[in-house]
Amino acid sequence: MEADPLDVDADVRRARTPKPEFYLDPAWHERVLERVFARTWHWLADAELAPSSGRARPVTLAPGSLGEPLLLTRGEGGELRALSNVCTHRGALICDSASEGNVLRCPYHGRRFDLGGRCLSMPEFEGVEGFPSAADDLRRVALAEHGPMLFASLAPDHGFDAWFGPLAPYLGHLPFASARYDASRSRDFEVAAHWALYCENFLEGFHIPYVHPALAKTVDYADYRTELFPFASLQIGVARGDDPALEPPKSSPDHGRRIAGYYALLFPSTLLNVYPWGVSLNVVQPLGPARTRVRFRTYVWDATLLGRGASGDLALVEFEDERVVASVQSALAARLRPRGRYSPTRESGVHHFHRLLSRFLTIP
Ligand code: FES
Ligand SMILES: [Fe+2]
Repeated sequence: MEADPLDVDADVRRARTPKPEFYLDPAWHERVLERVFARTWHWLADAELAPSSGRARPVTLAPGSLGEPLLLTRGEGGELRALSNVCTHRGALICDSASEGNVLRCPYHGRRFDLGGRCLSMPEFEGVEGFPSAADDLRRVALAEHGPMLFASLAPDHGFDAWFGPLAPYLGHLPFASARYDASRSRDFEVAAHWALYCENFLEGFHIPYVHPALAKTVDYADYRTELFPFASLQIGVARGDDPALEPPKSSPDHGRRIAGYYALLFPSTLLNVYPWGVSLNVVQPLGPARTRVRFRTYVWDATLLGRGASGDLALVEFEDERVVASVQSALAARLRPRGRYSPTRESGVHHFHRLLSRFLTIP
């Protein structure tokens, strides 16, 4: 593997898009999971699943890609934690369903832990030197709560605030805390394409007039823009006409504009679509080099505004997007496929995403 694996120039005006091998080679898929996904933040669960005091609940981080078995626990002090659900003795899963009580007991040989993950005792371990020590405790995983969503990171390269915080001037005034998960508007589906192609398509509004004719009538293409942050990018779609829109307060850089939708990608694969009624979260989970699961989770803070404006027909927009992503996937291996170039005005988010991928892939 070379020094800059994607070979994407820092200057968008000079850069070429990544080499096709990145998308095609299963070795790259594995490398991306270890170097990018294990070090970044991901949606873990809905906050309403968090256990109350004295309880624990098993949850898997990114099933099918990271697939890390974790436990959400809340001790007497009320603090919510994410712990490894893997016993420090010989690696059995400690809980396979929600449990009650202030002690976790491994079902294999009875090792006991408190809800903070501290190893308390173990039968037949008298005489074992230095037992229990910190190495016998369950590993704690970085966890953050934002409104109705819980996020976790196994080995974070950066803190949650560095990841999400820069979006605050745009999204901070919105009532995330009062948004409720709506199961009837949520679903999971699989796309036969590389996960990064799905994200790249999300990262630009360049294709809206060509691919989404109905959506194009609701957003002002001339006024569409992208802001870049250390680990995120934000696309801002200004509303056309008088459909419901977000009307940002004075504290927002968008004060005075009517916003049809904010589209944020939090690197690498958390997509937040923010509309006047609430949030459509798309969790993009790589299942293989050409298979991706997308989890659409809907959180609503004003149900009276659902189904209008830029989010009027999300199923149609998704169908149109899947078609173009499948088209790119089908031609990935074409012998005559050239390295592409970027539009500096319309594809800065795609370029930023590729630069971040390159950066994470080169950190040892
Ligand atoms: S594996 Fe948990 S006590 Fe043995
Ligand atoms: Fe699209």
